[in-house]
Amino acid sequence: MDPAAQDAKDQQLERFRAAPAHNALTTDQGVRVDDTDNALRAGRRGPTLLEDFHNREKITHFDHERIPERVVHARGAGAYGYFEPYQSLSEYTCADFLAEAGRRTPVFVRFSTVQGPRGSADTVRDVRGFATKFYTREGNYDLVGNNMPVFFIQDAIKFPDFVHAVKMEPHNEIPTGASAHDTFWDFCSLQPESTHMLMWLMSDRAIPRSYRTMQGFGVHTFRFVTADGRGTFVKFHWKPKLGVHSLVWDEAQIIAGRDPDFNRRDLWESIEAGEYPEWELGVQLVPEENEFDFDFDLLDATKIIPEEQVPVRPIGRMVLNRNPQNFFAETEQVAFHTANVVPGIDFTNDPLLQGRNFSYLDTQLIRLGGPNFSQLPVNRPVADVHHNHRDGFGQQVIHPGTNYFPNSLGGGCPAHAGSGGGPGVFRHYAERVDGEKIRVRSESFQDHYSQAALFWNSMADWEKRHIVEAFRFELGKVMSVEVRERMVGNLAHVNGGLAALVADGLGLPAPAPDANVPTAASPALSQENLMGEGIR
Ligand code: HEM
Repeated sequence: MDPAAQDAKDQQLERFRAAPAHNALTTDQGVRVDDTDNALRAGRRGPTLLEDFHNREKITHFDHERIPERVVHARGAGAYGYFEPYQSLSEYTCADFLAEAGRRTPVFVRFSTVQGPRGSADTVRDVRGFATKFYTREGNYDLVGNNMPVFFIQDAIKFPDFVHAVKMEPHNEIPTGASAHDTFWDFCSLQPESTHMLMWLMSDRAIPRSYRTMQGFGVHTFRFVTADGRGTFVKFHWKPKLGVHSLVWDEAQIIAGRDPDFNRRDLWESIEAGEYPEWELGVQLVPEENEFDFDFDLLDATKIIPEEQVPVRPIGRMVLNRNPQNFFAETEQVAFHTANVVPGIDFTNDPLLQGRNFSYLDTQLIRLGGPNFSQLPVNRPVADVHHNHRDGFGQQVIHPGTNYFPNSLGGGCPAHAGSGGGPGVFRHYAERVDGEKIRVRSESFQDHYSQAALFWNSMADWEKRHIVEAFRFELGKVMSVEVRERMVGNLAHVNGGLAALVADGLGLPAPAPDANVPTAASPALSQENLMGEGIR
């Protein structure tokens, strides 16, 4: 490619790309190899000799090719591209990459399923990851989102339990792919805060037609911060230019058998064909003084901010226009982290986000073999990097001089910017914090059903039908009657008709009604016109 046409990230990657494959075969040490098909042996019929260093090196390297897959989101597909804002956002944030209309920032995006292992099928009913790394001039910013705007749990301390329940069952690793099994539904039925997310998961959003037709959400409330330290709450939304399209369940199941790579193939082929996928980035902005204007807590990741209350404002677009050259080096080794923020973007005290800010770096230390994975080509910032971190497995940099601060002996030792900060320097938002050490969240975190009902009520009849049928199918696979009953009991707090239709599909009596919610699902839905395998 013409270097002038390459963005800063692609130019950087160029330095790491291997020489053309037609060169002579060498060992790791650059010694040319005479024969890679026949091991050195003592005589025509004799044993293989240990001194054949090429044979040993070849097999040893192969033996070490695999690394641990991600503990969640193991299966994914990624692509490079760029982001450009429509207008300057400097009224709300000093983030350099949002400061000027049309300023292009290179990105790498990885889409993923959550539950299945690396080799599982694409079109299973599941949440999809939508993680974007912006290689900004002020360092890497990662927006690590999903294709649904809420999450199953409110506090990261529950994440290990949730993931143990959602993954394959420990005794036999069955089932994979779908979320239909006892441990998942047992956990969710006992954690009613998951109900809103379950409504999304049983909807068509959980079987996207294509990554190109999927929305993305930052989920948490984040904070924009201006140069003079003023904060504004912000929720991020990605909207696909092609519109949102899903599969229907029968299609999803057939495709999972016929082409388990359906979504990754579609992404790859559309980029190869020059049909570049595009998303619009939108924000919901809430001034600090309006923090408590809502009947839910902005820190609660099981709640959306309804768009009727705070409209989504489009701020820019992202185009994916380049496939990676090596799946392992790029898509597998990319490391996203919610704590990778740049000046102008900061966190809130959302208890789920706070836990994520610990978890990603921690897991990548083992997944990517030590503390130097930010030096891997796909993870390298295009911004300059200077610090006193030294050594560790896989160190790629030859650091001259001393490596401590403060330091009067020099030798190129970097110094921090000082408490005054300045343009391009990250300073944590000076939020006032005052409280007792407790394990309690604000009261509205206990409202598990209002927004689940909001979601249900916003659905068209055919969408409601799909949700009922999905609950019947998935809960129909649950062996424990107690779990099925408990789950249906939770649904009764969302909509009595929904609960009754699901109960009937499972051969259960309708659960006790909740006087606060409607008892009718929808006039157009009845037992007769519903599908879904229940255990009767
Ligand atoms: C991976 C999103 C909650 C821990 C991921 C990935 C995404 C994601 C998109 C895949 C990144 C990639 O493509 O490499 C989310 C969202 C969450 C959420 C939107 C809730 C709003 C959590 C929580 C934790 C967690 C609460 C832990 C406390 C992890 C870990 C990985 C991961 C350990 C694997 C990372 C790696 O190995 O590189 N998450 N996640 N996530 N997430 Fe989350």
